[in-house]
Amino acid sequence: MSKDKNKVKIGLLGAGTVGSGVIKALQNHAFVEIKKIGVKDLNKKREFVSALNGNKPGAGHSPPLLTSNLNEIVSDPEIEIVVEVLGGLIPTKELVTLAIKNKKHIVTANKDLIATYGPELFDLAKENNVQIQFEASVCGGIPIINTLKQTLSANSFKKIIGILNGTTNYILTEMLNKNLSFDVCLKEAQKLGYAEPDPINDISGKDSAYKIAILASIAFHERIKIDEVYTEGIQKITLEDILLAEELGYRLKLIGVAGKESDGKIDIRVHPAFIKKTNTLSSVLGANNGVLVEGDLVGELTLIGKGAGSMPTASSVAGDINLLVAQISSSQKPNPQFVCQHTSFAKIKSISETTNCYFLRIKTEDKAGVVGQLGTIFGNHDVSINTLTQRCTNLDNTASITMLTHLVKEEKIQEAITEIKNANVVKQVENVIRVLE
Ligand SMILES: NC(=O)c1ccc[n+]([C@@H]2O[C@H](COP(=O)([O-])OP(=O)(O)OC[C@H]3O[C@@H](n4cnc5c(N)ncnc54)[C@H](OP(=O)(O)O)[C@@H]3O)[C@@H](O)[C@H]2O)c1
Repeated sequence: MSKDKNKVKIGLLGAGTVGSGVIKALQNHAFVEIKKIGVKDLNKKREFVSALNGNKPGAGHSPPLLTSNLNEIVSDPEIEIVVEVLGGLIPTKELVTLAIKNKKHIVTANKDLIATYGPELFDLAKENNVQIQFEASVCGGIPIINTLKQTLSANSFKKIIGILNGTTNYILTEMLNKNLSFDVCLKEAQKLGYAEPDPINDISGKDSAYKIAILASIAFHERIKIDEVYTEGIQKITLEDILLAEELGYRLKLIGVAGKESDGKIDIRVHPAFIKKTNTLSSVLGANNGVLVEGDLVGELTLIGKGAGSMPTASSVAGDINLLVAQISSSQKPNPQFVCQHTSFAKIKSISETTNCYFLRIKTEDKAGVVGQLGTIFGNHDVSINTLTQRCTNLDNTASITMLTHLVKEEKIQEAITEIKNANVVKQVENVIRVLE
């Protein structure tokens, strides 16, 4: 079938948003030929088909075969790289497993697959002397994974902080810019295609948890069990929280954080946070993503860019393909920097053991002695208050108290909050948000 025996043949599992971008990015590639493309619906109209058919024999290669039999791709003896842009875990995991057993290198954009089954698949890849490349699985077009693995490999990493989900960042940016509620901005994001019809993975923080788990595993050389990543989404965030953050000199973002503690444990979590406006990440707006890493040699470094979209994501997938093609063409062994060498699982710090500053918004009765009562409860739990403001007297004779604490252990603040919720002057603890110092 091939017109050029020197080209590395690849098979594509999926030709949707990312897959069709990859096809465009690889058109007329000097060293790569797409041999087969796997899809679900063979009758769907696809823009790339006519473009590929335009590649007349002699002009490079024959048009690739579109198939709905994905086993045909993972077992084709001529195909050396399988590009998985199908998504999800079923039938993806099984297909990728088969492809590895058939000695094919893998390029994937699938964070669910890597964060859930990474350890098993990396071990299998090692056994079969093939590589799994997954640059596009975290932050689409931002080259963070290979940067951590190779360019920054001489560093010992202190922390990673990321705005890893474009949908939630878009919603939070729109709420701030247009003074709108969470629900209105979510609907708008769905209308524009930034959010899925079922947005739960994004707004619950699950998508960000997959991504920070992948990054932490690379940076700290240990495997992370995804279920151990503390995850809190943005469902409870109100416009009031966002505006108060701005007033106090912060910006509210959904972040993934990971750091290695002196006791060897990994502090890894996803939650909304106030971040200082002087932090570069506060300027990551709309559907963009950003990742800040701190290495002992390089210091702080922030990468910002498009975390999704057909061509930005294809940029990362095609870069991974090029990396493998260079290796295959020169008959090199897999570069150890790109092969997973981890053997153990990380010990994860529980959220109650972490130390943070906190923003609290509390609705109380509007009467003398309330602030004193709150101060006593916080004092009893070693929570030291940085600033406290009684914002206004509401029409219903209640007061809105907002406060920022100094650094305190999470378990202490939670104890204080439990007691505050039971105080007779307190109507409601409306929100508690961690503050990144
Ligand atoms: N979209 C982004 O911006 C983005 C960014 C970063 C990472 N990713 C990741 O990239 C992967 C692909 O995302 P996407 O947005 O490109 O998805 P998509 O647009 O839904 O495309 C999925 C493709 O896989 C095919 N497919 C799905 N299930 C199949 C099955 N059982 N058998 C055969 N074909 C099947 C579909 O076939 P049909 O075309 O026939 O339906 C489609 O071509 C996901 O893991 C995603 O998390 C996406």
